[in-house]
Amino acid sequence: MFATYPSLRDRVIVVTGGSTGIGEAIVEACAVQRARVAFLDIQDEEAERLIARLVTAGTTRPAYYHCDLTDIVALQRSVQQILDRFQTVDVLVNNAGNDTRHSIADVTSESWDQSIAVNLKHQFFMAQAVIPLKRIILPEEVARLVLFLAADDSSAITNQSYVIDGGWV
Ligand SMILES: NC(=O)c1ccc[n+]([C@@H]2O[C@H](COP(=O)([O-])OP(=O)(O)OC[C@H]3O[C@@H](n4cnc5c(N)ncnc54)[C@H](O)[C@@H]3O)[C@@H](O)[C@H]2O)c1
Repeated sequence: MFATYPSLRDRVIVVTGGSTGIGEAIVEACAVQRARVAFLDIQDEEAERLIARLVTAGTTRPAYYHCDLTDIVALQRSVQQILDRFQTVDVLVNNAGNDTRHSIADVTSESWDQSIAVNLKHQFFMAQAVIPLKRIILPEEVARLVLFLAADDSSAITNQSYVIDGGWV
């Protein structure tokens, strides 16, 4: 049995790479919690299919932004459009990536740069664009992670270390 999180209602959650795979599941899970979800991707048809499915299911309607995240100017423009529409970003999920495996011999200078662009660079610039606020954390904020790890919601999470630092790292 999984949790409903009242504090997620109306929260503005931005998911990169939300059209398919893990990102799609995150968009859906957040929309089911009645959060306001914006997602960025390059797969337009998959995005529209996801939105149609969620609207039919009666969740909140996610907002889709076509954005190639390797284009930092386009990324910054999309974040600005999201801020214009929602006024804030409460949660950023840096999910997009490309996990295609290569042999060492196949890596070229160009493929290395492309891989860094799709798997590393945009995560920093997304975080920069939404400017997370650092703050002191409280003991009960640590206790709430323990609740989550003890509940069914974390059923596939074992033997991990968590940094709970209010955004300092
Ligand atoms: N699948 C796994 O087993 C696994 C395990 C650990 C971590 N991850 C990581 O989780 C994330 C999602 O994995 P997945 O399996 O759902 O991958 P996926 O390939 O199914 O989904 C990635 C999404 O990112 C989007 N994307 C890719 N490049 C983009 C770009 N330049 N601009 C905008 N959007 C872009 C894709 O269109 C797609 O919708 C990745 O970062 C991956 O490395 C995956």
